[in-house]
Amino acid sequence: MVNTNDVLDLPPDLGLFDSIRDMGYSVENAIADLIDNSLAAKSTKINIDIVFDKDRSYIRIEDNGTGMNRSCLNDALTFGKKTKSNREPNDLGRFGLGLKTASLSQGKRLSVKTVINNKEEIGVWDTDFVNNEAKRWAIKTQPFETTIDLFKRKLPDKSGTIIVIEILDKLLNEKAEDSDLFYKKIDAVGDHLSLIFHRYIQGYLVEKTDIFYQGQQLEPIDPFAFSKITIKGEGKYYNNSVVVKAYILPHESKMSKADLKKASLENGFTFNQGFYLYRTNRLIVCGGWLNMGEDMKSIEPTKLCRIMVDIPNKWDDAWGIDVKKSKAIIPNFIYSDVEKIVKNAYDSSKDRYLHRSKRKISDTGSYSWIWEARNSIKGKVYKINRKHPLIDQISEMEEKKDFVGLKKLLFGLIDHIEINLPITEIISDGAMNQADLSDVTKDNSEKLKKVTANFRKKLMDQGKSEGFINNLLDDTDLI
Ligand SMILES: Nc1ncnc2c1ncn2[C@@H]1O[C@H](COP(=O)(O)OP(=O)(O)OP(=O)(O)O)[C@@H](O)[C@H]1O
Ligand SMILES: [Mg+2]
Repeated sequence: MVNTNDVLDLPPDLGLFDSIRDMGYSVENAIADLIDNSLAAKSTKINIDIVFDKDRSYIRIEDNGTGMNRSCLNDALTFGKKTKSNREPNDLGRFGLGLKTASLSQGKRLSVKTVINNKEEIGVWDTDFVNNEAKRWAIKTQPFETTIDLFKRKLPDKSGTIIVIEILDKLLNEKAEDSDLFYKKIDAVGDHLSLIFHRYIQGYLVEKTDIFYQGQQLEPIDPFAFSKITIKGEGKYYNNSVVVKAYILPHESKMSKADLKKASLENGFTFNQGFYLYRTNRLIVCGGWLNMGEDMKSIEPTKLCRIMVDIPNKWDDAWGIDVKKSKAIIPNFIYSDVEKIVKNAYDSSKDRYLHRSKRKISDTGSYSWIWEARNSIKGKVYKINRKHPLIDQISEMEEKKDFVGLKKLLFGLIDHIEINLPITEIISDGAMNQADLSDVTKDNSEKLKKVTANFRKKLMDQGKSEGFINNLLDDTDLI
C-alpha cells in the first residue's frame, strides 16, 4: 500500500489540450484515423467532404455505422478512454485518442452528432470554449450555429455518426482566403484513402464499404494488383496470424501505362518499394524498409520489390503501432526469419532490374550502364557514364593515335546510347516531379559553349571555311 502522504495528484494542465493539437498529423492521416472509427463501427457507407468556404470551411464525415448512445459518446470524447479491454479482431482503434487528436489536429472545433435508432446525441470539443470560457476539460452538448446545417443527415439509415471539423487553421492561411492553397493541401487525400483502405473498398477479406470522397466513390488502389507480379517468398507465424509475402513487380518496360502510373503514386516509384503492412486489413505502412538495417535502402534497382505483411490488432505492442497509425517495426521474435525472405526478394528485384538496364560488355563478365541516374538537390539527373568501357576504348585510341575502327566504335557508342535511353525512368520521374530538366540544361549550357569553342578551333585548324563552321555550330538551339 502506498502511504497517501507520499502521493501528490498532478492532473494535466489545460495547456495539454492545445499541445495535443500538434501531434503532427497530415490531413490524410487525420482523415484516415476517423475512417478507422467508421469502419470499426461496421459502416457500409462513408461520405467525406472537405469544403473551402473561407472562415466557414469544414471537414465533414458521415457514416451509417452503429452510432453511439449518450454514455458511449461521452466515453468516445474522453481523451485516452479505452472503452474495451479486449478489442474485437476488426477494431482499427488502439489508444482511445484518434477521434479527438486527429480532428483537432486540423481544426479548432470538433462536433459529433451520433444517432442510434433515430435518437440523436451531440458532443462538441471547442478550443476557445475550453480555454477561455469553461477553463476546464469540458464539452458542449449543443452544436454551434455554423454546424447546424452540416449536422443534417444525408444517409437514410437509422443509425450513424457525423463528424464535423471547423475553424480549419491548419488548412487555411491567416485570412482564410486562399482556396488554391487549401485544395493543394488536401490534394493527396483521395488517393491516400484509396490506397490504405483498398481492401475495404474492394471487399477483399473484409466487408465491402463504399467510401465517397468529395462526392465521388473511391476506387481501390491495390499496391499488389499488377499484371505479371510474382511471389518470391512467404512466411507464416503465430498460427498463421502474421503472414509475410515478398513480391517482385514486372520490370517497368513490361508494365502497362496504368500500372506504371499506379507504381509511382504518392511517393514515386522508387520510394514505393519495401513494406506494405496491413493491420486488420488497413494499410499502416506504405513503402520503406522499416527497421531492416542500413543496407536495405530504397534505391532504383530494388524498386520492383514489395513486401506484404498482414498482422492482427492483438500484436500492436510488438509491432510498435503508433497513435497516428503510420509507423511500425518488425519485432525481434520474427526479425531474422523475415529478414531472410526480404533480402532474397530485394536481391531478386535488383537482378531483374539490372538484367534489363545493363549490357554485358567486357570479357570478364562485368556490367556497366551507359546512362546513370544521379540525385541532385533539385531532382534526378540522367548523365552518360564517362567511365563506360566504350568511351574508355575511344580515349585509348586517341592516346595511342591509333584510329583504325574509330568510326565503327563511335557509331556503336551512339547506338548504345540510343538503345538504352532510360525513357520509362524519365517518364516516371517526370510524373513524380523528380526530374528537373530545366536546370540540367542551364548547368550544361556553359559547358556546351566551351565544347563548341574547342570544336570551332579544331575545324579552323583543319582549314574549314567560316561559313561552313557557322552553319555547323551556330544554328544549334542548345548554345
Ligand atoms: N464513427 C464512429 N461510430 C461509432 N463509434 C465511434 C465512431 N468514432 C468513434 N467512436 C467510438 O469512440 C471511441 C474512441 O475513438 P478514438 O478514435 O478516439 O479511439 P480508438 O478508436 O478507441 O483508438 P485510437 O486512438 O487508436 O483511434 C471508439 O473506440 C468508438 O467506440
Ligand atoms: Mg480510432
